[in-house]
Amino acid sequence: MSKIPETTIDIVRDTADIVDIVSQYVDLKQRGANFFGLCPFHSEKTASFSVAPAKQIYHCFGCNSGGNVFSFIMEYQKISFPEAVKLLADHYNISIELDNNDTESEIFSALYNLHYLAMELYQNNLFSDDGGEALKYLYDRGFTENTLKQFNVGVSRDSWDQLVKHVKGKGFTKHQINQSGLFIHSDKGVFDRFRNRIMFPIFHPSGKPIAFGGRIYNSDDPAKYLNSPETPLYHKSNIFYGLHATRDSIRREESVILVEGYMDFLKLYQSSIPNILAISGTAFTKKHVISLNRISKKVILLYDGDSAGGNAVLKAGWILLQGGLEPLVVRPPEGLDPDDWIDKAGKKNVLNEILSPQPYIYFNIAFNKGKTLQGSDRKQFINNLAREIKNIDDGIVRNDMIRIVSDQLMVEEQDFIRTMKTQRIIKDYINEEEITSNKSLIFTSKVDKAQVELIKLLFCADENIRKYVKSVIKPSLFTIPIIKKIYNLIIDENLSIETSSFIEYFQDRNERDFITKLLFNNDNSNAIEEIVTDCLIILKSEPLKQKISKLRVEIREKESRGQDSSEELSALTELRKELNDL
Ligand code: UTP
Ligand code: MN
Repeated sequence: MSKIPETTIDIVRDTADIVDIVSQYVDLKQRGANFFGLCPFHSEKTASFSVAPAKQIYHCFGCNSGGNVFSFIMEYQKISFPEAVKLLADHYNISIELDNNDTESEIFSALYNLHYLAMELYQNNLFSDDGGEALKYLYDRGFTENTLKQFNVGVSRDSWDQLVKHVKGKGFTKHQINQSGLFIHSDKGVFDRFRNRIMFPIFHPSGKPIAFGGRIYNSDDPAKYLNSPETPLYHKSNIFYGLHATRDSIRREESVILVEGYMDFLKLYQSSIPNILAISGTAFTKKHVISLNRISKKVILLYDGDSAGGNAVLKAGWILLQGGLEPLVVRPPEGLDPDDWIDKAGKKNVLNEILSPQPYIYFNIAFNKGKTLQGSDRKQFINNLAREIKNIDDGIVRNDMIRIVSDQLMVEEQDFIRTMKTQRIIKDYINEEEITSNKSLIFTSKVDKAQVELIKLLFCADENIRKYVKSVIKPSLFTIPIIKKIYNLIIDENLSIETSSFIEYFQDRNERDFITKLLFNNDNSNAIEEIVTDCLIILKSEPLKQKISKLRVEIREKESRGQDSSEELSALTELRKELNDL
């Protein structure tokens, strides 16, 4: 999608000042060469988020997130790279000349325009004579004019072509009309998809309308909601309703209340419960987790008070846990949606409940009546728990779950762990790339650490050290993919480590965090040669050790068969010598 010319990206990067940009969102204080503040990407009490103006990068020592000015805007606003470039270009009054024949960004801006026009039209309908009945319906349900206007709620007329006519002659191509999802196509022509429905625009995190949910209000159409289909702008599986309005509050409150419906969102928002989000017309997915990950770790699931809502909570909870977030549950009284609940019980009572949510695992056991199950039902339930818990990556969380489940269901922890071991790990239904992108790069083995140490030295501020290290290492030492990639960029492509543009070679967020940490590294240790020697010994000895142990097995096998192993024995001696000489 990035069709912004490289030279423009360079100009924007060179013009933008990271301290200037970050301080719009974070209160920064200078300490030495760097600036420090409270990290906007995780909650903390002491400032571990730091910005290095010399390198134009940021890095958080607490949560490890890092990057350059583009990545900061991307993460903070939850927008794409080209969008971040555009936003910064706007800020600094740099005009972006898109490359010619850029059909792709042309279609995006056409689709945004179409949605904008539709939103305006529907909103005007609602507040004109046409909209009386819909407006009354909304007022009767307790929504104020303010709320409706803030979220640009509207109504589509009972007409086949109001929007068709409205966008006619405004220069949209057939293809753009077709891709927008706002129209239906038949042999008889093009018609409005949404007719006679209350229209909720769904916004991109940047605040632009990208889709609609349309609710019936005076008909008995069996489909209560009609939603936009998937379009180039709208991917249901990771879009939340309302994120553009509540993102900052969610960060501030350090928790998010997740509801199922547009109506629930609007009612809670109107009741001054600010850290609220709704999923839009779909089940909760892994992609939602990825979108939430950097905004809030605590997710309070406030779904409808019917069994469908309860079952949806069951599913969403595991997805959250397995994605590294903390699910909590609040249930409205039986049969009530959060929206009705506020109307019936009042904001204060609802808020009280929200303030003491139940940890997900207790909800799961209670909802499934886990404590009273018997025989094969009990066995099945325990198996299911074991399988889901096995899929939680975080060892601490996993162990807590094991402890709670064993305690609640009165199973021996050891037995539960044994059950877990017999469960298959369920492979994910979304691609690997996105799963790994939710995991940090942590290197623990000796060999991994040695590789990290060496590559770190290539980022040393002292050029002489960098030269020295380059002269003694060779590419075959590096086996970790990201480290290989970094090494190649430095050696083969001769990329300068002195500019933050280095970061843009890494699309994956965790890779970016990792590379920023290296760029941030400033310590000029004195014992460079010693460090290098130690690392080289580790890295060179590891393959030798592996060969040696393989040979040992071969020798033992040959001897047990009464065969001659003198060849292997002398090879072994050679290897031992090589190892000693390192
Ligand atoms: P609800 O049925 O709870 O709807 O579905 P609601 O928004 O609370 O509306 P009211 O209170 O009945 O007026 C929750 C969400 O599920 C999606 C919509 O996103 C809705 O907001 N949904 C529901 C659909 O996409 N299609 C449907 O037919 C029903
Ligand atoms: Mn509802």
